[in-house]
Formats: sequence, structure tokens, C-alpha cells
Amino acid sequence: MKWAAWAPGKTILIGEHFVVHGAYALAAALTKGVTVQAEPFTTSKIISEQGRLRADSLEDAPDPLKPIAAAVQATLRHLDENRGVALTITSDLPRASGLGSSSAVAVASVAATATSLGHQLTKQELAELASVSEKMVHGNPSGVDVAVAIHGGLMLFKKGSTVKPVHLHGTVDLVVGVSGVERRTKVMVEEFAKMKNKYPNSFMGMVNSSSKFSQLAAESLVKRDLETVGSVFNYQHTVLKTFGMSTDLLDKMVEEALRGGALGAKLTGAGGGGSIIALPPNSRAGQVVQALRAVIADAFITKIPAEGVKTWRQRS
Ligand code: PMV
Repeated sequence: MKWAAWAPGKTILIGEHFVVHGAYALAAALTKGVTVQAEPFTTSKIISEQGRLRADSLEDAPDPLKPIAAAVQATLRHLDENRGVALTITSDLPRASGLGSSSAVAVASVAATATSLGHQLTKQELAELASVSEKMVHGNPSGVDVAVAIHGGLMLFKKGSTVKPVHLHGTVDLVVGVSGVERRTKVMVEEFAKMKNKYPNSFMGMVNSSSKFSQLAAESLVKRDLETVGSVFNYQHTVLKTFGMSTDLLDKMVEEALRGGALGAKLTGAGGGGSIIALPPNSRAGQVVQALRAVIADAFITKIPAEGVKTWRQRS
């Protein structure tokens, strides 16, 4: 019998990088994500359709599939299973673009593995098992990507604390612009942390400010005060740019989104490439997407809140 799991990508609205150092981040699930189909099998294998990659055993996976193979191995061990699983991964999320693709793959793979073998994992177990993959990809992740992929919606996230869901009345449109430039989160996280060694007190001051901005943006979204949220986006982009996390292309994308009428725009995720987000005024998201498409190929609208991980039985 075949099962499937889906997990969303994520966007960080406020607080990327600072979240690694203990700040609250405001993050949301995307409507795009990763689907993993699973069925019990004598051994385990993984096929990634998008990357046309395959691992015919978990012990001998090619490098890009090693983190997922490790998470699946950890899941089978945790469940005390001697059966294996055949996994097929498909995704409509761009890779290495600051949209949480690796976490969505990890969460969906762990959930599909457990469900197809007749087990139910708690959210806590799912987070711990998916983190096996995340630690291999990112080194020292805050855990925000995995938390969003599991819980969905909009949340205030702090490393090591329980997530605080933020409940909106109705939905908010957000525009995502993908630069198409891939980069490694780990490298950007290390670069960002350099200031911590040089100016530790100023750095911790910025971490505290970042938490306050995340809380302000969350409260403003609840009140549908989009202008305040937009101002915080604009300010945060400048802060991240000062830390060296932006690029000329990301700055140009932010500029175009604002020219297209966005109330605010900023890079999202680790920066150095990857993606930006822009907050359009009510029912003007299409206009901002058009403006972004003048400089990059891929821009899309996502709605907050979006679902978290889900599993279902497939018709054979
Ligand atoms: O760019 P992404 O999707 O890898 O997001 C990274 C977010 C950081 O805050 C930079 C790192 C983290 O672990 O939270």
C-alpha cells in the first residue's frame, strides 16, 4: 500500500540569522512544498525525481541524498523496524533558495516513512528525526525551518522554546521572488556570526532588537496593519544588508518590488542569493509579481497561513 506525505516550505518574515543567536523569528509556511510517496520495501531506496538522483541503499547514497538517507535511517532505528521503505520525492520548491526546501524534504520523508510502516510519530519525534538531516545540511540550525514544515501557519519561533502560533483573521498575500542564485546557508551563517566575536555587546543588542521587531510585525499582522509590517521589512532588509547578507541582485529585486507598489520588501532566509519577500497592499499582489518578473524569472504569490505536514493513503 502506498502512502504520501507533504510538507511546506517556509519564509522568514523577520529575524533570520538573529534567530540562530536566540532571537524570536516570525516565520510562515508557504503554499509550495515537497511531496514524498512511500511504500514498505525489503530494503530502503530513495528516488528524487526533480534532481533525478537515486540511492539504492541508505548506506550508499550520493552526497545530495545523504542527509535524507540519514534521517530515514534514524527513523527506522527509532521505530525499531527491520523493514525498509521506497521513497519518491517531488517538489515545487526551488532548492537552496532560502525557502526551507531541505527541511520540507526531511519532514515529509520522515513522516512518509513512519506512516507507510503503520506508525504515528508525535510532532516532537518528527522534529528530532528531521533535524538529523538539517544538522548535516546546516551545521547549527535554529530549527525554524523544521518547526514551520511541521506546524504550518504563522509563528513566533525561538530556538529551544515551544512555538507560538500567531492566529490571523483571514489570509494575507505575500509575494516571493526567487533570484535563482544558489548559496550555502552554513557559509552565510558563519559570515553573519563574525560580528559577534568583534562586538559581542552590540551584537546581542541587535539580537534583542530583532526579537522586538518580530513581535511588532506579528501584532501588526494580526491587526492587519500592513503598512507597519512593510516598514519593518524595509528596515530589516537594510540591517541584513549592513551585515553583508544581501547582494546587488537581491537589492535590485527589493527595489523593483517597491516600485511595483509593495509596502515593504526584504531578503528572506540566509541571503547571499536565494529569495526575497514583498508585502503587497490588499489585492495588489499580481502587480508586485509582474514588477519582479522584469528582473527575475520566478516570482509567485503565497497565502499566510498555509498548512503544515500532512499524510494520506494513496489509491493504488
Ligand atoms: O536560507 P535558509 O532557508 O537556509 O534559512 C536559513 C535561516 C537562518 O536563520 C539563516 C539559519 C537558521 O538556522 O535559522
